[in-house]
Amino acid sequence: MAKVALITGANGITGSAILEYLVKHSTEAEWSRIIITSRSPLALKTNDPRVEFIALDFSEPPELLAEKMRPVCTEVTHAYFSSYVHQDDFTELNNSNRSLFENFLDALLSVANGLQNCTLQTGGKYYNVHLRPVPWPAREDQPRLVPAAENFYYHQEDYLLEKQRGSSWTWNVIRPEAIIGYTVKPNGMNEALTLALYFIICKELGMEAKMPTNWNYWNGTDDISDARLIADLSIFASTHSQCANQAFNVTNGDHFSWRYLWPRLASYFGASASSEQGFDKRSLATGELFQETTFENWAKDKRQIWERICDRTGAHKAKSTFDAGTWAFQDWVFRRSWSATLSVNKARKLGWTGHLDSYDSFIDAFEKFKELGQIP
Ligand SMILES: NC(=O)c1ccc[n+]([C@@H]2O[C@H](COP(=O)([O-])OP(=O)(O)OC[C@H]3O[C@@H](n4cnc5c(N)ncnc54)[C@H](OP(=O)(O)O)[C@@H]3O)[C@@H](O)[C@H]2O)c1
Repeated sequence: MAKVALITGANGITGSAILEYLVKHSTEAEWSRIIITSRSPLALKTNDPRVEFIALDFSEPPELLAEKMRPVCTEVTHAYFSSYVHQDDFTELNNSNRSLFENFLDALLSVANGLQNCTLQTGGKYYNVHLRPVPWPAREDQPRLVPAAENFYYHQEDYLLEKQRGSSWTWNVIRPEAIIGYTVKPNGMNEALTLALYFIICKELGMEAKMPTNWNYWNGTDDISDARLIADLSIFASTHSQCANQAFNVTNGDHFSWRYLWPRLASYFGASASSEQGFDKRSLATGELFQETTFENWAKDKRQIWERICDRTGAHKAKSTFDAGTWAFQDWVFRRSWSATLSVNKARKLGWTGHLDSYDSFIDAFEKFKELGQIP
């Protein structure tokens, strides 16, 4: 029987990628309806007649949500939760996100009687990679390092498992690294867009596009997750019985050193950067968070430069992109002085074959920003 998808966070970097994946790679016989939701009106355009949009705010109580969902969501068989409220402060981040998923799941379970799978997206922060050095590449079964109260992903995952216990539907959790992709509406974490703004402005100013990080992170090993692969694994895991009731990491499947990738990305925009970038401080304590400069400070006086570039190139629509730069998030990532990658062996062992060259992943995102008129 044809499946019916419900994708939350459709204006976001993950939700829009899952939508695009189903629109591109599935037929009506496989997926007869694709219901999508976001808090605000849909910013994306799609011509697929299977797509239906409903605006929902998951901070509302489940009973109220269920009332709004009932007219459209009763036939949902597969639900993909990628809603998220971004806060740069970790305590606020945890508080804001905890109840979103609970409200959503309670409402879903009261309306979708034929549910077969619910897939929740969390991320690398599950392993606390943002707080301190952790064993890496991180495996899905690694023990938790902090109490559940300090990490909203634990709370969300526990709630999913608790609600599923004894039910016929299955659960999956998908854990990506920094996501490379696009959104039509600004979001809280967009690495590729932030780097694109940085490189273009550095080029305009004729300044070296130094990576705002530290010696250890520059020379370490990293990985990223292309939104298209996240969508691919989400659909794979949720529709293959060998993956039922399991969590999966997702990355592009390669590893890189920023020292060598950074100058290649800069050169795509004609900006100057070198693998021999100098750092004043080379000896960092274990677990130290440190950046020689920060994106946040750097960006403070760059709006006018960006607007000048947009005016000169006739890309007037791109002026607002400056506000979509997620400078503080990028500082979170680049101030770490340790490497922390994720293992994707588990998904591979169960038959998932997705992989992408991370350089291509960035370049595809940059090209997409141009196509959308977000950058000149
Ligand atoms: N982005 C990354 O680099 C990254 C990396 C690793 C893990 N993750 C994780 O992936 C998950 C999804 O994040 P994302 O980056 O894909 O999200 P995102 O791009 O920030 O999109 C968030 C979505 O959630 C919706 N939303 C916000 N508040 C809502 C509310 N009260 N009710 C209903 N919907 C609401 C937004 O709706 P509107 O826009 O319509 O308001 C938007 O559609 C999160 O757990 C995140 O931590 C993200």
